[in-house]
Amino acid sequence: MIHVGCIMDGNGRWAKRRHLPRTEGHTEGEENLARLVRVAVKRNVGWLTVFGFSTENWVRPRTEVRHILGLHKKLFGRVAELNELNVRIQWMGRPFDSRDARTPRYVQRAIRKAIADTASNTGMVLTVAFDYGSHAEMVHAAQVAAAGGPLDQASIDRNLYLPELPRVDVMVRTSGELRISNFMLWQSAGAEVYFTERPWPEFDADELDAALALVRE
Ligand code: FPP
Repeated sequence: MIHVGCIMDGNGRWAKRRHLPRTEGHTEGEENLARLVRVAVKRNVGWLTVFGFSTENWVRPRTEVRHILGLHKKLFGRVAELNELNVRIQWMGRPFDSRDARTPRYVQRAIRKAIADTASNTGMVLTVAFDYGSHAEMVHAAQVAAAGGPLDQASIDRNLYLPELPRVDVMVRTSGELRISNFMLWQSAGAEVYFTERPWPEFDADELDAALALVRE
């Protein structure tokens, strides 16, 4: 089963080009993710993991942060669609009860409800990284691992936020940025990387197929 990771960049630039507020770009980005989930299911992708909001994104203007949080509530509210597609949704990020966690309660509630309401689906697994950073995850995994026994690769693997997440096969980054940022650094060792000039709201079925071709040849 193929695991695709997506760094959904370029919502702001997409909006700017259309003389729209940045928030419109994020709205379109969330809509596009919903479209892409449908395509990924058709392509028999096993795991789709997206970078929804990073531990670094909290410094953005407050209105933009609030808008993106609202879009996460919307995304996790798409339970009927996910059930129709047999998609199970998951979340990963700084644990809600940890000292530095920032996820507000209303987003926590939406996340918990969506996870519970799609738990019995057996098809693709959609994982949304929210308040997520790879460095925070690795420090967390190392701390828990070291407290419980020998610190080695296997013990770190077992203590990542979602230990059942398989290795990433292909990592996508949109909008012409040739960087990986702080996203699944541990899990994407050895992954193919697909970079495209297209901004996230325009990442369509043809683009996904081009990314999948890197691992399906
Ligand atoms: C980058 O665009 C995108 C993000 C801050 C994270 C992804 C967010 C979305 C796709 C919107 C909502 C999505 C979900 C999952 C609910 P940018 O603002 O960095 O674009 P820019 O680099 O052009 O400014």
